[in-house]
Parts: sequence; C-alpha cells; structure tokens
Amino acid sequence: MTVDDVRVMILNGPNLGRLGVREPEIYGHASMADLEREGAGWGSALGLQVEVRQTDDESELVGWLHEAVDTRAHVVLNPAAFTHYSYALRDAAAQVTSSGLLLVEVHLSNPAARESFRHYSVVAGIATGTVAGFGFDSYRLALEAVKNKI
Ligand code: DQA
Repeated sequence: MTVDDVRVMILNGPNLGRLGVREPEIYGHASMADLEREGAGWGSALGLQVEVRQTDDESELVGWLHEAVDTRAHVVLNPAAFTHYSYALRDAAAQVTSSGLLLVEVHLSNPAARESFRHYSVVAGIATGTVAGFGFDSYRLALEAVKNKI
C-alpha cells in the first residue's frame, strides 16, 4: 500500500455547516466549502486521499464512523456539540481506534478555554489524539499527525 492509498475522512458534526456565518468571532469567516477545498489541497500535498463531510444528524455521523471502519479509512473528527454528550458517537469512534485506524479529534476553538460544559469530551478518551484551538489549522495539523503516524 502506498501513501496515496491511505484514505482520511474529515467528519464534522452539527452546526459546522454554518461556518462563516456562525459566531465568526469564535469560528472564523471561512465556510465548510472552504474547508472542503482546503482539505483536498492538504491531502494532495501530504499524499492522502481526503474527503470532507458534515452533518447535523447524529445517526448519519455514527454511520460514517462505521463506514470508516468497514472501508479502512482514518478519521479526523470534529464532533462539535456531540463532543460533550454523545455516548453513541463515542462508542462508534471507539470502533475506529480499536480496529487499528487513527482517529484525531479536532476543534476549531479551544473548548477548554470556553464554557464549562465544553470542558469535557466523551470522545477524547478513545481518540488517538486531539488538536484544538487553531481554527482550520487544527484540521491541517491533524492530517499531518495522521501522515506522520501511519
Ligand atoms: C467545536 C467546539 C464545540 O464545543 C462546539 O459545540 C462546536 C464546535 C469547535 O470546533 O471548536 O460546535 O467543536
């Protein structure tokens, strides 16, 4: 398997489709379409096949994590608000890492520096690692971490 065969799914949870218009002072002015474009560019620079998806639907996100396991794709996951309470998402994400794939939890903002309900992540304990607080760079750094670890 060459590095070009390595697939990475960048999966995004609820309200991240509103990037650009949603609280730009926290999340910035760039949109999900911008992330799709940037993600493809970072992927080709790193020799990774990158696909960016976003959903507001917990069951769809769970299904995408199952798909990652079944098709052997690494995952960069911004679970958004699900980070803080979705045990279903956590259990699906655990299947990714327990099957030997990498899962990097990412956040645009630094949840630890925000409201207390954002301080706890149900996903962090089963993730390969976490990158938070760097805006779109969180995703780029996560892809670099995947590239360096495979
Ligand atoms: C977020 C942080 C979460 O607390 C929040 O619910 C989000 C976005 C981030 O990327 O900073 O929707 O995951």
